[in-house]
Amino acid sequence: MKLTWLGHACFSLEGSKTILIDPFVPSGEIGVDPDIVAITHAHSDHVGEALNLKKKTVANNEIAKYLAEKGIDAEDMNSGGTIEVEGVRFTMTHAIHSSWLEAEGPGYYGGLAAGFVISLDGVVVYHAGDTALFSDMKLVGELYHPDVALLPIGGRFTMGPEEAMMAAQFVGAPLVIPMHYGTWPKIEQDPVAFKKAVERTTDIRVLVLKPGESTHIE
Ligand code: NI
Ligand code: MN
Repeated sequence: MKLTWLGHACFSLEGSKTILIDPFVPSGEIGVDPDIVAITHAHSDHVGEALNLKKKTVANNEIAKYLAEKGIDAEDMNSGGTIEVEGVRFTMTHAIHSSWLEAEGPGYYGGLAAGFVISLDGVVVYHAGDTALFSDMKLVGELYHPDVALLPIGGRFTMGPEEAMMAAQFVGAPLVIPMHYGTWPKIEQDPVAFKKAVERTTDIRVLVLKPGESTHIE
């Protein structure tokens, strides 16, 4: 499976299907034609281009209902649930964060913010979404054994590098890729310092990608 960090919280997973998670990049140009879009929560830096992509989209009830009203083929689910879409498994995990659909007018309640465990071609990816650190991340590791964990390190709106270090240990995936940093000055962080700190104290490998860079995970 080919995993690409497109920037911010946006990743594509390419195998027998192409999955796009949180389709927002600052430039607006995503350049991936997905089979399935997955949205962790309602903030605009995660819903992103979902309305323009017009693809089958996996999201919580509230976001799915909103998207369905806009003509998107949306699969609704909620925290703790697992669904299979076109042979790809999506489990919605907890995240500690808010969720508000920043639509026209005052917007809408966006349901609970979440993360995803996605299983594609036997590779298990945990995208934590926007979240604080919480110890039940251990359950994600125990239950789903992710091959890679995509963890926010930006701070301010999510956990920062210090908390993400502990998150990496709670999840226990052999590979961590940091995300949700550097997009704007408010979430500026040093991912190389994060990598060094994790790799100095654990057996976990941290891969720092540049936006647009890929890695292959088997
Ligand atoms: Ni958010
Ligand atoms: Mn965000």
